[in-house]
Amino acid sequence: MTTRSLSPLDRLLADAQNALETVAGRPRAERPNPGAGEPEVELDDAERRHAAGLMRVNHVGEVCAQALYVGQATVARDPATRAHLLAAAQEETDHLAWCDDRLRELDSRPSIFNPLWYGGAYAIGVLAGLRGDGWNLGFVVETERQVEAHLEEHLQTLPGADLRSRAILETMKVDEARHADNAEAAGARVLPQPIPALMAMASKVMKTVAYRI
Ligand SMILES: [Fe+2]
Ligand SMILES: [Fe+2]
Repeated sequence: MTTRSLSPLDRLLADAQNALETVAGRPRAERPNPGAGEPEVELDDAERRHAAGLMRVNHVGEVCAQALYVGQATVARDPATRAHLLAAAQEETDHLAWCDDRLRELDSRPSIFNPLWYGGAYAIGVLAGLRGDGWNLGFVVETERQVEAHLEEHLQTLPGADLRSRAILETMKVDEARHADNAEAAGARVLPQPIPALMAMASKVMKTVAYRI
């Protein structure tokens, strides 16, 4: 998606379309699912439920990443910053589609609160973006570093037999680290406290709820 030459109204409409596709559609990945080459090992009920809870959390995380980056891109001042945000959002679409695929394989479904998560993250993205491009990129760095740490946690707690989820999370972790590095190189400023602490708190609430519903 490119919004570089669009008017503000066109941008809002494009954002609304992205929101609908993210929460109600079936997003399509551009890259193959990294879990596809791994064998589907049978999990017992408790393992399957736990794996599905973790993948639902990751799916919500990707819904939020979409919303955040699209919101930030909408108000970014420099076209290079906007292009940077939209390129990251495209890779997040792959993550979203892979998590969605895996949830279905685990006989589960995405969070019923996805429209709410999307709306909240979009609002945060717009607010961050309005402070200027250095802040905008700073938000990307902080978000990606927090996601990277949380993916590492999930890799530790995921059932050992769930090789398909593991392959997806490992690829996502590499991508998220690259998103952070790129944003740093593009001139991100370091966000002052309490912003990183508030972001960590908000994501903890999201993770607790999304693990269940
Ligand atoms: Fe992601
Ligand atoms: Fe990312």
